[in-house]
Amino acid sequence: MNYNNILSETNKGLTTISINRPSKLNALNRETINELHQAFKVADEDKKTKVIIITGSGEKAFVAGADISEFADYSVSEGSDLASEGQALLFDYVANLATPVIAAVNGFALGGGLELAMAAHFRIASDNAKMGLPEVSLGVIPGYGGTQRLPQLIGKGRAMELIMTAGMIDAQTAKNYGLVNHVTSQEELMPLVEKIASKIMRNSSVAIAAAICAINAGFEAGENGFNAEISQFGKCFGTADFKEGTTAFLEKRRADFPGK
Ligand code: COA
Repeated sequence: MNYNNILSETNKGLTTISINRPSKLNALNRETINELHQAFKVADEDKKTKVIIITGSGEKAFVAGADISEFADYSVSEGSDLASEGQALLFDYVANLATPVIAAVNGFALGGGLELAMAAHFRIASDNAKMGLPEVSLGVIPGYGGTQRLPQLIGKGRAMELIMTAGMIDAQTAKNYGLVNHVTSQEELMPLVEKIASKIMRNSSVAIAAAICAINAGFEAGENGFNAEISQFGKCFGTADFKEGTTAFLEKRRADFPGK
């Protein structure tokens, strides 16, 4: 598929989606959000793709935020539509994808960029990365899930301070806060992400999808995560992956999961 603002390539079970507007520090305009939705959908439906990596092109930015030039003139209703459409098409969509999504944060991840990284299932950063939700410096608040996912990941007090100050934290602070899982050099970022992805790929994709669903349920209003876990746990017993995983263990061999 041809895209104007992103690149997507699949190799050995790994689909890497790169936001490719480096001259605008990969800022997310509406067209980019639509293209990302499409690329994530294609990768999720592709049986060969076991893990998706989201990253930014160039050496400076993951994503420097929503494209400010696009929404500067919006009205109240256009503003709320922007947030609700973006959340549905991209941020909630990614967070609830059955295929694991890792954000390789390779530079500035600000505003919508940090919100996209936080929608991914976990994050790995290069040591030049800078992260923050600077929206209040523009007279607006995070609208792509940032007010909810940042406190979930780093705690309410830290999130309040980071959002109120419109500050930026470096990669090491982000790791200390639990916002990113690992920090590495720029050169080692993709090799490290790929190494972790290859460990994920050895496991049952069906069980991983069930785990994502159960973990996310605990963060959804009105859902009971423990009940979701019981339901997903039970469903696993009806899968070919479960039969293969348990049989392989008992036969003292490595499992070869059919992915169903
Ligand atoms: N929306 C639209 N364009 C953006 C952008 C954004 N969020 N972030 C960067 N750009 C554009 C700049 O306008 C500039 O374009 P130009 O060359 O046509 O003028 C280009 O990307 C390079 O950015 P620049 O500001 O010159 O780079 P810098 O190294 O001096 O500063 C940042 C880097 C990230 C500190 C700065 O770009 C910035 O503060 N960006 C906005 C961050 C933000 O508020 N995000 C939240 C949006 S809700």
